[in-house]
Amino acid sequence: MERAKIYKKTLLIDASDDQAIKDAAEHLRNGEVIGFPTETVYGLGCDARDGEAVKKVFEAKGRPADNPLICHIGDKDQIKDIVSGVTPLAQKLIDSFMPGPITVVMKKADSISDQTTAGLDTVGVRMPSHPVANKFLKACGIPVAAPSANLSGRPSPTSSRSVLEDMDGYIYAIIDGGDSEYGLESTVVDCTGEEPVILRPGAVTKADIDSVLGKDETVMSGSLADKETPKAPGMKYRHYAPYAQVEIMNMPEGTEITGDNAIGTDGKIDKSANEPVDLKKLTDDEAKALVNIAAPFILRSREILAKNPFARIGLYCGSEIKAMYDKMNDKLLNAHTEFCVYGKTVDVASASHGLFEGLRFLDVQEVDVILAQGFDGEGLSVAYMNRLGKASGKKEELTPGMPAPARPARMPLPIDAFKDTFTASVLFIDDNNTSLSACCESLMRRLIEKNEPYISNSRSDAGFEIYCESAGLTAMSGLEPDSFMEKAVKELTGFGLGSIESRRADPAIYDDNDLILTVRDEQAFAIIKAFPQIKDKVFSLSTFAAANGLVMKDSSGRVMSISVPDPSGENYETYLHTAKALGAWLEILFPYILKDLGASRI
Ligand code: TXA
Ligand code: MG
Repeated sequence: MERAKIYKKTLLIDASDDQAIKDAAEHLRNGEVIGFPTETVYGLGCDARDGEAVKKVFEAKGRPADNPLICHIGDKDQIKDIVSGVTPLAQKLIDSFMPGPITVVMKKADSISDQTTAGLDTVGVRMPSHPVANKFLKACGIPVAAPSANLSGRPSPTSSRSVLEDMDGYIYAIIDGGDSEYGLESTVVDCTGEEPVILRPGAVTKADIDSVLGKDETVMSGSLADKETPKAPGMKYRHYAPYAQVEIMNMPEGTEITGDNAIGTDGKIDKSANEPVDLKKLTDDEAKALVNIAAPFILRSREILAKNPFARIGLYCGSEIKAMYDKMNDKLLNAHTEFCVYGKTVDVASASHGLFEGLRFLDVQEVDVILAQGFDGEGLSVAYMNRLGKASGKKEELTPGMPAPARPARMPLPIDAFKDTFTASVLFIDDNNTSLSACCESLMRRLIEKNEPYISNSRSDAGFEIYCESAGLTAMSGLEPDSFMEKAVKELTGFGLGSIESRRADPAIYDDNDLILTVRDEQAFAIIKAFPQIKDKVFSLSTFAAANGLVMKDSSGRVMSISVPDPSGENYETYLHTAKALGAWLEILFPYILKDLGASRI
């Protein structure tokens, strides 16, 4: 389904602005689509009775039309208008778990559009407990059909920023209600038969439902056989998938996990879980348990790097695992690992809360593989593992004819969206400053622009700006760039070397920069010899690659270094070839340069 932008910009509404929420509700009643927060994930709401409005939601999501939407309400009185009858079983679940993270499937009433239910004679009903959702749904006063607010196939959004990332320009407005507490979608329970059938596990668990029924009779809908029509049509599609391959790192059997009873914790995240970990404070037994949890991450990472020395590995793990990596201080592992820490390692509530945002974050870091913590509990863990399972190896099976979604354009945050802004700068050095170093500077600028914006690795509320310059060890100052190099760079990037004017490197220039990269090895050695105190920030392109464990081999298996012959005196083709080679190297080195400077893409 082709997606078409219909708005220049999607309106972002503050949850405390009552008037704006009323206006958004008015727009929804008039056929518009509105993104809104819930305690599970954000939803894309529209009038469930209006087939045309529902079509807009399917279009904005790029969702196949045979996958029904859930109807959201702000008041239990609305249920009678949506369904043709409430069975005693359904009534029990409604009384016990609504409002909350549950969707009860019942026989539908005629008022609900067939578009909403994708032609089924049943409808899922959900009353969120999130106060902003409740305020909004009450203001709407009609049943609101809403799927999760992600582009079909992507991880569901649990923040307004992620909704914007997928939906900017495709829907009228988003109400920003902060981060969703649970982070996983509601439990979908089919109540049209004798016993309840869980079609999608969530924070309301089988044990929770059995306990209100007073007997063990809730059925977990099994894995879907190929030909069988799935009961919850959504479960047959590839889902929650980041672009990177996801692998689950199982927790050793018997590990005691916390947060598995999500209703008990009401989805609230243990905020202390994000405090720094002092490994010294662990008892021997705790330390041993931790090593066992960390081992699969470390072993698998080493295995991946042995096969592919360029691999970038994302870890979705707990804070203690990150602390262990820090303590190990293994240069190779550190250089190749991007972390997304959810909180305490054994806390499945935190892991669930952060999962979808974590997958999205690691995707933006362009890692090749994501190693994610597994949990073997029986409550919330079942829902967590269900989503993680779908995001991992089963991609093909779950994609009958559905192409992987294209990477959506990232939403550049204005730098003033951050409390603080850090800056850092890279310097490129060659002998002269009219050719290779100028070329590196120019190509690097394009890379920096292409990958913007950045945040600081040490403070997630701080933005990060990166600058780049060049100079020459023996350069004459004030020379124009080499005209062939100018032309080659222009051909490659559409921009020439611009205002770059040659200048000689000196200690003040070294001082101004945080990372100094020379074209040839002997240039880095010469700088370090003259200024030993800055040795930690001076590398040649080759030694920088080696320091990050990037071992390049030629076809006969010999270790190669990055060598860029000076093209001066050669023809234009040679210049172009050289500029292309430099561009390719810089592209490979770019993530490591970011890491060295202390920045991440967002
Ligand atoms: O937590 C949630 O449920 C979120 C928030 C926004 O409320 N919504 C959500 O909607 O996850 P969606 O459309 O992304 O997923 C709904 C799931 C799908 O797997 C769909 O097939 C299933 O519920 N479903 C909806 N109506 C159904 C029905 N009548 N019978 C069986 N399954 C149904
Ligand atoms: Mg969904």
